[in-house]
Amino acid sequence: MFDLAAYLAERRRLVDEALHRYLPPAEGPVRELVEAMAHSLFAGGKRLRPILCLAGAEAVGGEEVEPFLPVACALEFIHTYSLIHDDLPALDDDDLRRGQPTCHVKFGEARALLAGDALLTEAAALCLDPGLTAGLDPRRLQRAAHLIFSSAGVRGMVGGQDADVAAAGRDVERELVDFIHANKTGALIRAAVGSGAILGGGDEDQIETVLDYGRLIGLAFQIQDDILDIEGDAATLGKVVGADARLGKATYPALMGLDPARDRARDLVARATELALSLGVSAEPLAAVAGYIVERRI
Ligand code: FPP
Ligand code: MG
Repeated sequence: MFDLAAYLAERRRLVDEALHRYLPPAEGPVRELVEAMAHSLFAGGKRLRPILCLAGAEAVGGEEVEPFLPVACALEFIHTYSLIHDDLPALDDDDLRRGQPTCHVKFGEARALLAGDALLTEAAALCLDPGLTAGLDPRRLQRAAHLIFSSAGVRGMVGGQDADVAAAGRDVERELVDFIHANKTGALIRAAVGSGAILGGGDEDQIETVLDYGRLIGLAFQIQDDILDIEGDAATLGKVVGADARLGKATYPALMGLDPARDRARDLVARATELALSLGVSAEPLAAVAGYIVERRI
C-alpha cells in the first residue's frame, strides 16, 4: 500500500531544503525584501506544485529528484508571488494566510508588491540557471519553462485572476466559472505536473496524459478550495473562511450548491486517478495525490 503521508512529508522536506538554498541571502540593502519573500515562502505551504512536478517526472521514469528541484521550486516561487499579490488590499485584502499575517500586513504594501515581483522574476532565473540545470536536456527545459510561464500569465493564472476580479458581485454563467477556475488555479497546477513529465523524459503520449491529469485535478483543487471556504475550519486553514460569499465570488458551490460541487470535484479526481494509473506503477504517487486534492482539509 502506497504511503501518501510519508511520501508528501519526504518530498516537502526536499523542497523546503532546496527553497532555502535558492533564495538569495537576506543581507545588505535587500535584507528586508528577502525577509518579506521568505516570510511568505516559509509560512507553511503544502508545496503541492513542486511535489506535482516531481511526481510528474517520476511517473514517466525520471527517478532522481535533485535535477528537477530548480524547476519544482520555481513553481513555488510563482505560487507564493500570486498569494502575496492576491492578498493585497487592491485584490482580496486579506490579513491572514497560513495562520500568519499576510506579507503586506507585516512588511507594508510597497514591499509586499515588490516581494511578489521579486519571487516571479527569481522563478525565471532559477528555471534558467545554467549551473543548477546543467543536468537537464536543454530542449526539454525550454519547453517546460515555456509551459510554466505561459500558464502563469494572461493565458493562465493572471488571466483567470483578472476574470475573477471582474466577475465578483455579478451573476455569472457556468462557462465563466469554468474559465476562472481552470486559469486562476488550474493552469499552474497543470503546468507543474506537465513540466515534470516533460523534464522526466516522457514521450508525447505520456506528456499529454499527464497534462490532462493536471487539468482535471487543477479544477478539482479550486472546487475543493471553494468548498473549504464554506465548511472548512478557520484554525486548520489558517485564514478567515466565508470570504468568497462576502466578496460575491464566482464559485461552484455558489453556482450549483455544495453537494453537486463536491460530486463534481470527486468525479474530476476519479478521472484523473484513472489517467495516472494508465501510466503504470511509477505513477502511483500521482494517482494518490489526486485523491488528496479532495480529501484535504487544508
Ligand atoms: C491556495 O493554494 C491557492 C489557490 C487556491 C490559488 C488561488 C489563485 C490565486 C491566488 C491566483 C492569484 C493570481 C494573481 C496574479 C494575484 P494552496 O492551498 O496550495 O496554498 P498553500 O501553498 O498555502 O498550501
Ligand atoms: Mg484570496
